[in-house]
Amino acid sequence: MQDSIHSICGIHGYRGHALPVHMPPATSPPATPHRQKWSDGVMERPKYLVTGGAGFIGSHLVDALLARGEPVVVLDDLSTGRMENLAGARGQDNFKFVHGSVLDASLVDELVRDCDSVMHLAAAVGVKLIVEQPLNSFTINTKGTETVIGSAHRYGRRVILASTSEIYGKNSSGPLSETSDRILGSPSIPRWSYSTAKAVDEILAELYRREYGLRSTIVRFFNTVGPRQSPAYGMVIPRFARQAVRGEPLTVYGTGEQSRCFLHVADVVEALLSLIDLPDAVGETFNIGSDEEISILDLAERIIACAESTSSVNRLSYSEAYGPGFEDMERRVPDTTKLRAFTGWQPHRNLDDVLADAVADARSEVSRQVLGLVAEGQAKGDTDSSTGQTVLAGPCPV
Ligand SMILES: NC(=O)c1ccc[n+]([C@@H]2O[C@H](COP(=O)([O-])OP(=O)(O)OC[C@H]3O[C@@H](n4cnc5c(N)ncnc54)[C@H](O)[C@@H]3O)[C@@H](O)[C@H]2O)c1
Repeated sequence: MQDSIHSICGIHGYRGHALPVHMPPATSPPATPHRQKWSDGVMERPKYLVTGGAGFIGSHLVDALLARGEPVVVLDDLSTGRMENLAGARGQDNFKFVHGSVLDASLVDELVRDCDSVMHLAAAVGVKLIVEQPLNSFTINTKGTETVIGSAHRYGRRVILASTSEIYGKNSSGPLSETSDRILGSPSIPRWSYSTAKAVDEILAELYRREYGLRSTIVRFFNTVGPRQSPAYGMVIPRFARQAVRGEPLTVYGTGEQSRCFLHVADVVEALLSLIDLPDAVGETFNIGSDEEISILDLAERIIACAESTSSVNRLSYSEAYGPGFEDMERRVPDTTKLRAFTGWQPHRNLDDVLADAVADARSEVSRQVLGLVAEGQAKGDTDSSTGQTVLAGPCPV
């Protein structure tokens, strides 16, 4: 698998390079990209390194950067990402894919050295993964980020760090601004370990900035949806859309009165592009999300209508869905005043656009599955190996 990816993408010779013994602290990056020889030819030095670029948000960002003519290198271990997400990017001269982990310090160091800016999106994401592999997830989400930040500091590279609205924990007041309080449950609950790992990432970036001048920007994504989002990791809209398309009942956890806001991934990418080269954004944290609030029960009804489905809605208590002790927040609404003030950004797609895309994506995946082109688990959602129950979180946004 790895060999075939490397040969498809023409990446060789990244592994086995020792870390420099000593590197000076941050220096200014060169103003213009230079040309560098690659094993498969000559290409302009990659301007952007996108970790997690084979994932949902990362792959849309890669497409947008390539469309702007920017050279891009992706580092991804394909744990939740998929090569087909990069189908549009793969044939392009300005694009390179490296199959590897952000935990591989020498690999990360070499890739960061050879780029101008890092968009760090790689993370263990989704309720299922975090609950089933809590230690591995925590390690990727802390050590992986520390590795990326350490190399960015070493070579004076700009970093945009993907964080999350989970940072705010159970704070159900709203709209939440970047300085709103974090309200968390016990650290023994895996959900809060994801929130805490991302908080550690944010703290690291901030301390490197204060002490060494790291040029970092933190973006906190609220619920993001759109094409290529897998239903297998606890995302409510892809799951509801597939259930509606199949005519199956949509399962709402809890009362269904809990509310969320969903932003189309294309608007998220526009926000990222507006921040990417903005000098004033260095040292700042931004919420990125929609302020169109909807309850999960209303969401289920809207998706059924959008899919013209005959599905019904079932309710399941949190304890039935997740076991005892599951904690969730009633509301999660972002205040994006700061992002709008810094960049002039505003979303161009509303919830109807989001749902139309989700239903179209679900239709295409379900029909490919009928033709045997997509695995059952991928189209329908994963199953807990111990209980045989479908482990898909309704309202959980991680
Ligand atoms: N989608 C959302 O609603 C949302 C909300 C809040 C925060 N985020 C954050 O946005 C980022 C992207 O999330 P996404 O929704 O696109 O999820 P995703 O799972 O589609 O993308 C994550 C990518 O990281 C890769 N990855 C995981 N571990 C890795 C490792 N050790 N080394 C290299 N690559 C690795 C995965 O293969 C995947 O391609 C993450 O940092 C996530 O925490 C997403």
